[in-house]
Amino acid sequence: MNPKIQQLRELKHQAKQGGGEARLKAQRDKGKLTARDRIEILLDEGSFREVDAFAVHRTTDFEMGDKKFLGDGVITGYGTINGRLVYLFSQDFTVLGGSLGRAHADKIIKIQESALKNGAPIIGLLDSGGARIQEGVISLGGYGDIFLLNTLSSGVIPQISCILGPCAGGAVYSPAITDFIIMAKNSSHMFVTGPEVVRSVTHEEVSFEDLGGAMVHNEISGVAHFAAENEEHALFTTRTLLDFLPRNNMEDPPVVVCQDDPLRTDSKLDTLIPENPNKPYDMHEVIETVIDLNTFLEVQAHFAQNVIVGFARLNGRSVGIVANQPAVLAGVLDINASMKAARFVRFCDCFNIPLIIFEDVPGFLPGLTQEHGGIIRHGAKLLYAFAEATVPKITVITRKAYGGAYIVMSSKHMRGDINLAWPTAEIAVMGPEGAINVLYRREITTAENPEARRIELVQEYRDKFANPYVAASWGYLDDVIEPSQTRPNLINALEMLQNKRDENPPKKHGNIPL
Ligand code: HXC
Repeated sequence: MNPKIQQLRELKHQAKQGGGEARLKAQRDKGKLTARDRIEILLDEGSFREVDAFAVHRTTDFEMGDKKFLGDGVITGYGTINGRLVYLFSQDFTVLGGSLGRAHADKIIKIQESALKNGAPIIGLLDSGGARIQEGVISLGGYGDIFLLNTLSSGVIPQISCILGPCAGGAVYSPAITDFIIMAKNSSHMFVTGPEVVRSVTHEEVSFEDLGGAMVHNEISGVAHFAAENEEHALFTTRTLLDFLPRNNMEDPPVVVCQDDPLRTDSKLDTLIPENPNKPYDMHEVIETVIDLNTFLEVQAHFAQNVIVGFARLNGRSVGIVANQPAVLAGVLDINASMKAARFVRFCDCFNIPLIIFEDVPGFLPGLTQEHGGIIRHGAKLLYAFAEATVPKITVITRKAYGGAYIVMSSKHMRGDINLAWPTAEIAVMGPEGAINVLYRREITTAENPEARRIELVQEYRDKFANPYVAASWGYLDDVIEPSQTRPNLINALEMLQNKRDENPPKKHGNIPL
C-alpha cells in the first residue's frame, strides 16, 4: 500500500481511539456510551462526516506536551437525521475528561459557524469536566466564543443539547442558551458549583444527583426539557424532536403524510367536561383525542404541570400545543407555568410552528409566595410571548377563561387568529363565587337567609356570564363549536392560515420582562 495512504489510515484509526482502550473501557464500564457510539445511534446510518479529526492542543504547561490526543476530546461534523442535515459535536470524556481547551473550543465553534451559515440544526452531546484547567483563561475564552455563537444562532437554527455526563461550572450556560436540554437519568449532571463548593460555602451536604441530576432539572429547576431513561432514549428523543422542526427560521416545518382522518370527530369530548365546574379532568385527553394519533411529544412534562406544552401534528403539520391543565392546581397560571409556556411560545414563533391553545384557566395563582416571587413580571412574559407571536394562533376555550388569564391565553386581543369555544366555556372577569362576593357582599350578609341568597346570586351570574355567548356577541370568539367537532375545526383553521403574513414594528429587539 502507498505509505502516505497507510499513514493516513493509521492516523484516522488513532483518532478513533479517543483516550485509549483502557479509558474507553472505563467509560463503558460506567454504563455510558462512548462519544462515537452516541453519534452512531443519533445519526442516519453511514451519514456522519467528521471534520478536524487531526486537531490537537498546543499547551505545554503541566506536562501537557505529552498528553496530546487526535481530535482533542471532541468529535465534530455533520450528518443526517431522517434524511435532513444536522451538525453536531460529541464530547469525549476519555480524553482529558472531555475538558474544553482552545483547540476543542475551536472545533465546536467551526461547527456552530457552519450550522449557522448553512441553516441547519446543531446538536451538542455534552460529557465534559468543563474548562480545561491547564489552559487557564484560554479555555474560558473558548467558552465565551461558544456562548456568543449560541446567542447569535438563537432563533435562526434550532439548537439542542443532550447532557450525557457532567456539565459543570460556567459550561452549563451553553446548553442553557440552546432551545432544548435533554438529560439522561442517572448519568448526567448540571450545576454551576459542585457539591464540594456547596458544602464549603453554604454547609449543605448534597449528592451530584440531588444537586443537578436529570430529575432535579426536569421537575424542580425547569432547566431541562426532557428526562430520558438512558442515553439511547436521549438520542432517540433528539431525533423525534427534530422531526417537528424546520431546519432554520426561514423554512416551514416538514409536513408528513397523515394516516389519521382529518375529519375524524369524537363524541367522547361532548361529555368530557364535568357538570361540576370545580371538578378536574385531564387536558391530555383533549389533546390526544384531537391531534393526529400518537404524535404528541410533551416538552417539560415534569415541570409546572398546571400547563402542558409540546409538539404534535394536525393533518401531518407540526403544531405547538399550549394547554392549561385543570387536573393540576385547577390549571391556574403561576410563575413556573407562565415561564414554561412563554419560552415554548417564543420557540414556536421563532421557527414558524403554529400554536394551538386549549384553555381552561381560573386565573393567576393568588398568594404571598407568588406575588413576592414576581408573578407580575413572570406572568407578563406569557402575555408578551403570545402578543408578539406572529405564527398562526388558534385557541379553543373548553371551560374557564377568567380575568387576565383569559386575555393572556392568545385571546383575540393578543391577535389570536381563530378563537373557538365549547358551549361549556365560561368567560368573565372572574368566577361566579368571587364576583358575587365583590358585587353583593352587603346584600348577602343582610339577607334573611344569606346562604340561600348567595346561591341564588351565583346562579344568576352563572346564567348571565358563565357561557361563551357574551364573548361571541362581541366577536371575541369566532365560533362556538361542538366539542366532538374540534379536530376538523382545528385542521380547517390551520389550513386556512397557511399563508398568514403578520409582522411586528421594526425594532432592534423587544424588551420582554425578564
Ligand atoms: C482538566 C480535567 C478536568 C478539567 C476532569 N479532568 N475535569 N482535566 N480540566 N476541567 C480530568 C481529570 O484530571 C482526570 O484525568 C480525567 O479528566 C477524568 O476525571 P475524573 O475526575 O477522574 O473523573 P470522575 O471521577 O468521573 O469525575 C468527573 C468530574 C470531575 C466530576 C467532572 O473530574 C471534576 O469535578 N472535574 C472538574 C469539574 C470542574 O469544576 N470544572 C471546571 C468548571 S468551571 P486523569 O488523567 O487523572 O484520569 C468551568 C468554567 C467555564 O468549566 C467557564 C465558562 C465561562
